[in-house]
Amino acid sequence: MTLILGLETSCDETAAAVVCDGRFVMSNVVASQHELHERYHGVVPEIASRAHLQSINPVVQEALEQAGTSLEKIDAIAVGHRPGLIGSLLVGVSAAKTLSWAAGKPLIGIDHVRAHLHAAALVDAANRHDQDDPGPLEFPALGLVVSGGHTSLYRMTSPADLTPIGQTIDDAVGEAYDKVAVILKAGYPGGPKVDKLAQQGDPTAYDLPRSMLGKDSLDFSFSGLKTAVLYAVRGHPKGRGSDARFERSIEDLTEKQQADIAASFQAAAVDAVIKKLERAVKHMTEQGDAPRSLVIGGGVSANSLLRTRVAELGERLHIAVRIPAFAYCLDNAAMIAGLAHTHYQAKDFADLDLPAVASGSV
Ligand code: KG4
Ligand code: ZN
Repeated sequence: MTLILGLETSCDETAAAVVCDGRFVMSNVVASQHELHERYHGVVPEIASRAHLQSINPVVQEALEQAGTSLEKIDAIAVGHRPGLIGSLLVGVSAAKTLSWAAGKPLIGIDHVRAHLHAAALVDAANRHDQDDPGPLEFPALGLVVSGGHTSLYRMTSPADLTPIGQTIDDAVGEAYDKVAVILKAGYPGGPKVDKLAQQGDPTAYDLPRSMLGKDSLDFSFSGLKTAVLYAVRGHPKGRGSDARFERSIEDLTEKQQADIAASFQAAAVDAVIKKLERAVKHMTEQGDAPRSLVIGGGVSANSLLRTRVAELGERLHIAVRIPAFAYCLDNAAMIAGLAHTHYQAKDFADLDLPAVASGSV
């Protein structure tokens, strides 16, 4: 039995978790900073790193306590060390190094984006022998990360072996949700608010673009859709840049119109993702790697419509769908500790000079 303590501080959640044997979550503690960033409609890096500093020790303590364990019984310390906000990453990386050094436990550096793809393999340790546990991920798999920073497709041949095959050329889908939330004045954090508003609207009310980027492209583009939402809400602008004057403001729309725009945006965004997933299945199949599972991860995997549409796609194509439980969709440390198990088995340990890196490795 291997127990790994994971730390995650790449953006605006301070998180720690204890995971057994790579999949069984014994504790998953997340301290969110949403309230601190709400008035700015987005994450302010300086505020985020300061809040991480305040929360990291109590969060780690809480994760160990909830798991009924102690640092002495932990086999390794894992930390998300890339990609993310550099000041935020540094807090988690420094804390993990200190714990590793003080307790004499190996240190493991984990890529946050890859970890999102491991989230679908996690189960609550209380359900370890449950018939509902779908088991480890099956490879080859088609991976999709949909988050605030990424919209990326991967060919996965093992947990450690990922090849990027498509990505966004402009905004990430979560970023588009967040910007549309600002346009619709739907509140913060944007994704869940727009998702909720969309459920009250008519997805066919507005005809918004689904950017396909050429017949065979596996890349994504969401900036045109975002602009189309802006024009649907405010009309076409007269003039350019800071001189631009819009025809109307959001307050001129009825609640029904606002919900219809949210629903039409959600339909277009999710449609684009589903079409690219289907293309990518075809692409992998033609390359002789027909996927046995569709593995989804990242904050937008919590989206109600995306979850339904991915399940339908899997049924239609007869491919198993692996989508995380809600607790593991958004940023968390269980996915970090879980993925670290493969590194632990391979004795792939980091030194105390493990860097925090703002950019991703894939
Ligand atoms: O994975 P995550 O927590 O952080 C990153 O690694 O970026 O993803 C956060 C993103 C945000 O853009 C948020 O608006 C979006 O996920 N999100 C959603 C939903 N819940 C979170 N987007 C659409 N529908 C949701 N229900
Ligand atoms: Zn994330």
